[in-house]
Amino acid sequence: MKNRKKNSTFIWNKYYEDFEKGDWLGNQYPNEFLIRFVSNLRKKYTNSGYFKDKGNEIKLKKNFNGNALEIGFGGLANLMMLRSKGFNCHGIEVSENAVKRSKSYLKRNNLKKIKTSVWEKNSRLPFEDNTFDLVVGLQCIYYNTDIKFIIKEIKRVIKKNGKFIFSFFSKNHGYMKYIDVINRDKNIIKWSNKHPNKRIVGSQLYHAKSKENLNKLFKYFKNKKIFTFETDQLPIFQSWWYITGKK
Ligand SMILES: C[S@@+](CC[C@H](N)C(=O)[O-])C[C@H]1O[C@@H](n2cnc3c(N)ncnc32)[C@H](O)[C@@H]1O
Repeated sequence: MKNRKKNSTFIWNKYYEDFEKGDWLGNQYPNEFLIRFVSNLRKKYTNSGYFKDKGNEIKLKKNFNGNALEIGFGGLANLMMLRSKGFNCHGIEVSENAVKRSKSYLKRNNLKKIKTSVWEKNSRLPFEDNTFDLVVGLQCIYYNTDIKFIIKEIKRVIKKNGKFIFSFFSKNHGYMKYIDVINRDKNIIKWSNKHPNKRIVGSQLYHAKSKENLNKLFKYFKNKKIFTFETDQLPIFQSWWYITGKK
């Protein structure tokens, strides 16, 4: 039991158990960079890097029709946004509570084109090879401490030319003051007892040390871009590295 309690799956399931009753769990609004990424997926650019979508400004952002996977979806905000863009969506979560709440919301509102299911961390993704046009994992993918395995799995389930977006804590994020190192060689840390969010203390995660480190991890993919998002809007400084690219 002691080990189980340190496990991110147990910790996140408990986190969601205590969540306010009502609509879906977790974030109630979609991730801004996911919205931008999807909106720009089909945009063309001029040689100087400016948009080349005159006359198609709206059409290019809709009617995607492909399959999208969200790993660690938590709530339905990102999946609902992807659905509104035309994707057939599947969300997987390690938290049974998150999946239960999502299913009940989808049923209550008779929403099609979004499926959700439970998946065990560090395990095979429950999909055939070359299934998805888009794979998304925001503020969660690093909880797979066997990060190389999950990235290989992502490569397996993305179609050729399929796209992805993932986010990782950057070294400047305010949370990085509250870590205990578990395995220095493998970049595994855990949130220490001093972490301001008491509900996730003990959760282990992969800590990408640099953008070069991230780039190497995603070595199977093309057209990679790693960008930083930072804000001091909230009391705790937010600093994220996003990585996007295609197979
Ligand atoms: C900060 S929340 C982010 C939720 C959602 N992705 C979003 O952007 O709103 C972190 C999520 O990671 C999930 N999680 C925990 N362990 C995970 C793992 N090993 N792989 C993927 N997701 C995991 C949690 O259940 C939780 O929903």
